[in-house]
Amino acid sequence: MDPVTASLEAVLQRHAAVPPRGVVADYIPELACADPDDFAVAMASVHGSVYRAGDHEREFTIQSVSKPFVYALALADLGLDEVAEHVGFEPSGEPFNAISLEPGTGRPANPLINAGAIVTTSLIPGDAAQSFERIRAGLSAFAGRELELNEAVYRSEAATGDRNRALGFLTLSQGVLARPAEEACDIYFRQCSLMVTVADLAVMAGTLARGGVNPLTRTAVVDPEVAKIALSVMATCGMYDRSGEWMVRVGLPAKSGVGGGIAAVLPGEFGLGVYSPPLDAQGNSVRAMAVLQEMSSRLGLHVF
Ligand code: DON
Repeated sequence: MDPVTASLEAVLQRHAAVPPRGVVADYIPELACADPDDFAVAMASVHGSVYRAGDHEREFTIQSVSKPFVYALALADLGLDEVAEHVGFEPSGEPFNAISLEPGTGRPANPLINAGAIVTTSLIPGDAAQSFERIRAGLSAFAGRELELNEAVYRSEAATGDRNRALGFLTLSQGVLARPAEEACDIYFRQCSLMVTVADLAVMAGTLARGGVNPLTRTAVVDPEVAKIALSVMATCGMYDRSGEWMVRVGLPAKSGVGGGIAAVLPGEFGLGVYSPPLDAQGNSVRAMAVLQEMSSRLGLHVF
């Protein structure tokens, strides 16, 4: 075994020995089917090497880890000024499902909580089918392979997503949602239900680490300027109301999802993906955060 894989195996083993705190998400009923013991980590270097350990073949839904990548696609399609008319870029310090309207503008302040992400998704051009396909193809380009929809999770989220629909209607009433609320939410539910592995998350993060060029396919998915903005919002907003503490303690731009995944980036060097379903009260994977915190402190990864 090569030394990088060996060190990934070792960090997983150390954390697997600690009983997982946290609870698997069940507000989207289908997510409750996840195995709480699944645990995996992957690293993708900007030069195209990918290292994996643990249950790395397990697929799970991307959920909110999709948000900075779709934000990047919106920036690529529309530019920052137009996107910023609809959604801000402030770390609102609010929970992921907060009712978020910036005083004065009516925009959701934070692009990585649900309200801001639904507005961002609504901006991706085309009719509903074209818009979802642009998102699916765009996230696939970040991952370097074709990502597919998990129909069961999509149906489960669509059946229970009334709070997100409320956020959709609220932002529509403020004039910042770019398409009908039900349609925007349906595209967003599909986006969240795309299936990934930890290696996919690592390669997606590695693409941002390499300034928007996928390290495996060498395709320029977004411009370096767009990758820089996506990393900036991950650094300030990626972990919801733990974003400040995360930046202090771990110091890597990152994004979590209620499926149990976290993607993290060391700019210019590599992307990391970690997967473990039990979540803390903020909706962030407890073990994935612990693994990233340990790697950051042992390897000196803090960007500052
Ligand atoms: O909209 C939702 O509630 C989910 N599809 C995604 C939320 C999420 O992943 C929050 N993350 N930690």
